[in-house]
Amino acid sequence: MSRLQGKTALITGAARGIGAKIAQRFSEEGAKVIINDLSLDAAQITADQIGGSALACDVSDPQAVDAMFEQVRRKFDSLDILVNNAGISGLEGDSDAHERLLGTYSENIDEPELPIFSVTNEAWSKMLAVHLNGTFFCSRAALRIMMRHGDRIAGSTNIINMGSIMGTAGGAGAVAYCSAKAGILGFTRSLARELAPHKIRVNALAPGHIYTDMISSLEDMHPALVAQTPLGHLGETDDIAWAAVYLASNEAKFVTGQALSPNGGWHMSQ
Ligand SMILES: NC(=O)c1ccc[n+]([C@@H]2O[C@H](COP(=O)([O-])OP(=O)(O)OC[C@H]3O[C@@H](n4cnc5c(N)ncnc54)[C@H](O)[C@@H]3O)[C@@H](O)[C@H]2O)c1
Repeated sequence: MSRLQGKTALITGAARGIGAKIAQRFSEEGAKVIINDLSLDAAQITADQIGGSALACDVSDPQAVDAMFEQVRRKFDSLDILVNNAGISGLEGDSDAHERLLGTYSENIDEPELPIFSVTNEAWSKMLAVHLNGTFFCSRAALRIMMRHGDRIAGSTNIINMGSIMGTAGGAGAVAYCSAKAGILGFTRSLARELAPHKIRVNALAPGHIYTDMISSLEDMHPALVAQTPLGHLGETDDIAWAAVYLASNEAKFVTGQALSPNGGWHMSQ
């Protein structure tokens, strides 16, 4: 249980859900873990549970991101692993969006209005800002720290970006989310090529449907999602956390530019 011994890892959006489970498993594997989230209180509660540190910032705000990584540089001096996990579904507090998404799975709706007509400019921009801009802002700021150490062991420094099966499969009623996740996969491959000469790996996780707060409000959809999943159930946060441990560890030292997709067979590739 020491695959990440001596490493420092920052995980965004890690106060709960998939990010919190990744933080717990990283900590158990010996990493010094920094939990980021919007609320310092929420991040601190999770950090206290796993023996980590907490730093708050909105990953879509470039100044706040730079300030947070400046704190990381001052407090920890080095950073080995970044997990760009923070995300939103776009359904938060929007019951209409919730109904529209359910409508796309319902057989009882005769002529549903096209869901794309209801995507406001603000909702589109916010989705891309949190997922895609946030991934870019945090990666750029983290690399300023990661690149300072010239003695990197090949493959040990790395970035993991949270994609989704929706980024490749697409999803009716979720154009903004799917576009943001597809962008993250392209960002991952480009940055992996850019950083390979510097011995820094970049990979993505593309989870299937994992039972967290993000999808708990979509309970009506769960039977359909389970029916589409060959393994016959939704995923758990640990299904993603263990994949993150693998990608972050030296056991994955020859793995870069990849998307690893624990999804119960919902989407099969390669
Ligand atoms: N749950 C799933 O089925 C599923 C599937 C595929 C991908 N994902 C992705 O996994 C990641 C984690 O999802 P989850 O299911 O754990 O969701 P969650 O809603 O349980 O947790 C998301 C966390 O991100 C934080 N966050 C949101 N916006 C932020 C911002 N601007 N700055 C900093 N933190 C912010 C939230 O406060 C929350 O703690 C997301 O990127 C999500 O898109 C989830």
